[in-house]
Amino acid sequence: MNRLVGAISAFCSVCFVLAGLWLGSANSPAFAASEAPHTGMQSWTFSGVFGHFDRAQLQRGYKVYQEVCSNCHGMRLLSFRNLGEAGGPEFSEAEVKAIAAGFQVVDGPNRDGEMFERDGKPSDRFVSPFKNDNEARSANNSALPPDLSVIGKARGLHREVPWYLAPFNWLQEIAAGYQEGGADYMFALLTGYAEAPSDFKLAEGMEYNKVFPGHQIAMPPPLSDEAVEYTDGTPQTVTQYARDLSAFFMWAADTKLEQRKQLGFRVMIYLLILTVLLYLAKRKLWSRVKH
Ligand code: HEC
Repeated sequence: MNRLVGAISAFCSVCFVLAGLWLGSANSPAFAASEAPHTGMQSWTFSGVFGHFDRAQLQRGYKVYQEVCSNCHGMRLLSFRNLGEAGGPEFSEAEVKAIAAGFQVVDGPNRDGEMFERDGKPSDRFVSPFKNDNEARSANNSALPPDLSVIGKARGLHREVPWYLAPFNWLQEIAAGYQEGGADYMFALLTGYAEAPSDFKLAEGMEYNKVFPGHQIAMPPPLSDEAVEYTDGTPQTVTQYARDLSAFFMWAADTKLEQRKQLGFRVMIYLLILTVLLYLAKRKLWSRVKH
């Protein structure tokens, strides 16, 4: 029995090591050569055990979202106060108040039973651009721009590999603790607009996109170089905007990511110490029994 358990755990370890090694090679140029440069696993500050968000990047991401994407997409699960919380963009209290005050929100009813508009407060939710889905569709050629609050978790990178390699892909992702599929997809989507191949039939009003399922998307390319002004000297390119937005959406979908990873690490240390103690206790308890 012991031998069987030993053999199984040895097999699993070997699989993990192989998967890890394969992961190492996944980012090498040889692997990337068959793919477009932006459609793979990117390196993010928030990946890995010690992952954390880059505050400046999140602040830039919010700016681009606000100036460009919020014309069509809402983020109704976020409140302005979230922008000032630890582990996020960490805007100062005054900045959060100023951001919120820049919006008109509907409140009420007042004493006469009327709804009224007032300046936003940090406790208010983000304001959606359309009153309802029908209005959103009618403004967008019948396509619905989805709410982006949790899009970072709702999408993932689809890697096209033969079916027999798929299990290795899963192992590789488990071994690497891969959780950044949403950001990788978003980045690939925003930088994935291209001319449709000549044999591709594009429907009226649609755009060709390399990673969107089916390759036809109703969203016109939302980004262009120099569209949003960065004051910290970061390059104002589509690639950079896409990176910053992807990080921002990842945070929005997982606002407690940093706390979660820190707690996870502490739990692992705790379990490690507990394992050693249990092992020593076991040795002591069984030392007098002949076996
Ligand atoms: C002119 C309106 C408009 C703007 C501006 C716009 N979008 Fe969209 N977006 C759409 C529409 C419409 C869809 C639905 C596309 C479809 O279903 O084919 C969409 C879909 C999406 C999706 C979902 C893709 C999927 O996998 O389902 C994402 C993500 C997205 N947009 C991100 C963004 C980001 C980020 C920005 C800002 C840089 C942005 N959009 C700006 C109209 C817009």
